Amino acid sequence: MLSYSVTISLVIGGSEAQKGPRAVENWFSKLPNAKEKVTKLQFYFHDIVSGKKPTSVPVARANSTFASPTYFGLVSVIDNPLTTGPGPKSKIVGRAQGITGYSSFNELSLLMTLNLVFTSGEYNGSTLSVVGYNPINHEYREMPIVGGSGVFRLARGVATARTAKFHRRSGNAVVEYNVMVLHY
Ligand SMILES: *[C@@H]1O[C@H](CO)[C@@H](O)[C@H](O)[C@H]1NC(C)=O
Ligand SMILES: *[C@@H]1O[C@H](CO)[C@@H](O)[C@H](O)[C@H]1NC(C)=O
Repeated sequence: MLSYSVTISLVIGGSEAQKGPRAVENWFSKLPNAKEKVTKLQFYFHDIVSGKKPTSVPVARANSTFASPTYFGLVSVIDNPLTTGPGPKSKIVGRAQGITGYSSFNELSLLMTLNLVFTSGEYNGSTLSVVGYNPINHEYREMPIVGGSGVFRLARGVATARTAKFHRRSGNAVVEYNVMVLHY
């Protein structure tokens, strides 16, 4: 098992997946002999909602949203940086791109529909897709990894999110993600 913060420092090897329909077909034809492996990734997700360059932007809400204690109906589009460490100057290894929406009447919880788009090291160009329930005030939030592309073709796994920092005044948050993923 490799930690993402270790593997990103490796030189890009020949492991990058070949693209195109033929390459994908060829990859599938080798599946019966392929061995499944487990990869562990760790990174920090920066949810920047205010300041000069927000990366998490509200795009829609219901009339009733701001009368709701749980912001029910507020939908944002995000392109949040993923970094190796919690600090703002830490190395960027990818982006979390997608749509999040407050979807509970009773608690602060988000439906997360995200692609984790990796841009560094052996995972450069590969993605993982997350669809999950994210009750943001809970310490640990478990979200399914439902698929992937590139080196993560046919991936499935579990992402565990934990808020590392939350700035009450700005609303910005840094969230630690630990991902366990099965893939070939
Ligand atoms: C939302 O509020 C606006 C402005 O008050 C109003 O024109 C509109 O009809 C409301 N929409 C709904 C679905 O209630
Ligand atoms: C990632 O891949 C892109 C496209 O192939 C390439 O332009 C870029 O230099 C790569 N980045 C890193 C950090 O390897």
